[in-house]
Amino acid sequence: MYDIEKIRADFPILSREVNGKPLTYLDNGASAQKPQVVIDAITRAYSEEYSNVHRGLHYLSNLATEKYESVRGTIARFLNAAHEDHIVMNSGTTEGINTIAYGWAMPHLEAGDEIVLSIMEHHANIVPWHFLRERQGVTLKWVETEADGSLDPQKVIDAIGPKTKLIAITQCSNVLGTVVDVKTICHAARERGVATLVDGSQAAVHMPVDVQDIGCDFYAITGHKLYGPSSSGALYIRPERMEEMRPFIGGGDMIKEVGRDQVIYNDAPMKFEAGTPGIVQMIGLGVALDYMMGVGMENIAAHEAGLRAYASDRLAGLNWVSVQGQTADKAAIFSFTLDGAAHAHDISTILDKKGVAVRAGQHCAGPLMEHLGVSATCRASFGMYNTTEEVDVLIDALELAHDLFA
Ligand SMILES: Cc1ncc(COP(=O)(O)O)c(C=O)c1O
Repeated sequence: MYDIEKIRADFPILSREVNGKPLTYLDNGASAQKPQVVIDAITRAYSEEYSNVHRGLHYLSNLATEKYESVRGTIARFLNAAHEDHIVMNSGTTEGINTIAYGWAMPHLEAGDEIVLSIMEHHANIVPWHFLRERQGVTLKWVETEADGSLDPQKVIDAIGPKTKLIAITQCSNVLGTVVDVKTICHAARERGVATLVDGSQAAVHMPVDVQDIGCDFYAITGHKLYGPSSSGALYIRPERMEEMRPFIGGGDMIKEVGRDQVIYNDAPMKFEAGTPGIVQMIGLGVALDYMMGVGMENIAAHEAGLRAYASDRLAGLNWVSVQGQTADKAAIFSFTLDGAAHAHDISTILDKKGVAVRAGQHCAGPLMEHLGVSATCRASFGMYNTTEEVDVLIDALELAHDLFA
């Protein structure tokens, strides 16, 4: 049984008030709150176990290294990677995707080669590819969503041409909540010799992920959305692709030897982890992932499916709210506008007065907003600790906003 009261009690911030009202935190798509076990792990790491990693022979350095390195195994379990050496630890998805852009794509792609993207990518999965377009003459090919916000995997597969080298695609849209059938896409791409990068920033929060089953070459996650610290994250890399990659950032830790005229790199995955890492952040992420796995990813997915269905029904009852993306295969993420002149920023300000935290704006998804023909939306994004009562609070606050702007 999903003990929502216990889960809520694990997140201390959820019991605070905002603007004199109980906090209703529906901005999980931007960043999620942290359970006490993660906060405690961070405090313990700094107050009792802190040192730099991989560098010393003293007690604390060994302890910190052991704690930090054990997170690699936790991430491998979380993503069902075949081995922990397939995991590069980093500061999050933005670094992960740039690692692939600089480390794999730049040396492999040339002018006229193509990268296929969906129109609903986050800027983190667009701008690094624009670098290749600007600097190397690579072409970006866009696959658009259907009217209901779904993405037809066949259209992505059909976009593959003789010059296509990479498909970079989200598994779950941060704006629409649309879940993409990345498995079908990755398997078809693999048969055609095309590499695949899956942006799992949102998906890994809401559903079990199995990178081996998906069959992708690269899978990026970001810790702060996974109830862990900011500046933590990871990149799964298929071992054959790791061998094809050159390191992206150079510095300490990623080398075996450095001389005046030569450098010998460390073995992967260390080769892709230069400098002092986010030691405590990663330790916190390990605890956050253990926490999620303890609750059970299937259980989280089932709880959020209930929230999604309830919120869909309640929003559908407001005929002055337009929700973008209504496909059935969708996470509990709702982007909407209110009919009439009210701007998303004004609506979110009114919701805030009622203690309801949502995000308003373009959600780092310029091409999607242009495709949808909207300049900004409000986004309510749910997490493992949200409740149907909080959906009701959102609806009441929206009614107030509607009354004010009608
Ligand atoms: C789908 C998606 N991709 C990438 C990112 C970027 O993540 P980060 O800023 O943690 O690197 C986000 C964050 O909002 C996202 O939602």
